[in-house]
Amino acid sequence: MILEARNLTKRFRLGNRDVDALRGVSLQVSRGEFVAIMGPSGSGKSTLLQLLGGLDTPTSGEVVLDGEVISHLGDRAATRLRREKTGFVFQFFNLIPLLDVYENVALPYTIAGVDPRHGETAVRIREVIEQVDLKGREHHRPDQLSAGEQQRVALARALVAKPAILLADEPTGNLDYSTGGEILDELWRSCDGMGQTIVLVTHDARAAAHADRVLVVGDGKIRDEIELGRRQDPDPSPLIARLTQLGL
Ligand SMILES: Nc1ncnc2c1ncn2[C@@H]1O[C@H](COP(=O)(O)OP(=O)(O)OP(=O)(O)O)[C@@H](O)[C@H]1O
Ligand SMILES: [Mg+2]
Repeated sequence: MILEARNLTKRFRLGNRDVDALRGVSLQVSRGEFVAIMGPSGSGKSTLLQLLGGLDTPTSGEVVLDGEVISHLGDRAATRLRREKTGFVFQFFNLIPLLDVYENVALPYTIAGVDPRHGETAVRIREVIEQVDLKGREHHRPDQLSAGEQQRVALARALVAKPAILLADEPTGNLDYSTGGEILDELWRSCDGMGQTIVLVTHDARAAAHADRVLVVGDGKIRDEIELGRRQDPDPSPLIARLTQLGL
């Protein structure tokens, strides 16, 4: 098991009101597994993903990532662990506009003080740029790329340091149908081909259908779990049928 959440709660203070975004979430993710998290807007999906990746701390409960309890670390230790063990992809690609494709993908190394232009690091950066089909575009800036290409850069940056876990929050939410499909194919290949563990938050059954397992979140809790198993054909109809049965 690579990731475990134990009875997570998260309470936000909003003005003089408390919002219970998570009300006791426990889950386990195996190495190499692809897990999707679905649920209505405001149900706590993004909050959960942030806690799983150590971007925020729970009000109570624990997150164990790759053998380390990450939920109660100080800022410096949490930052280090995040860098070493997680890759994030968001709905808005969060690329640095002044950096080109190569430099954006190289960012995790640059931040860690590793020269990304030489040696094994450069080999790895070129490899992951090729993996997401952006070979030849290394010196383009984000504004010279399509939305789908920008998201592939973000994905390459998330994967470059071979994180223990890839966390993606609505990575296709800002893309059209076919461009979104390309990103889903890339995610799928990194999981099935490279053994990358993935947790994907999405509203989209087509996206979730790529997963081995779907967790359905509602009102801060996991309400259902749908086991899809590893399939080469991500046909969404069985998942849609199950979601309909559950009244979603
Ligand atoms: N920083 C914050 N401060 C206060 N309340 C917050 C904060 N972040 C999230 N919330 C609240 O927590 C609840 C869960 O939010 P969250 O963003 O996790 O939902 P979500 O399932 O990701 O929704 P969506 O599908 O719209 O992205 C919501 O009621 C939200 O308003
Ligand atoms: Mg969200």
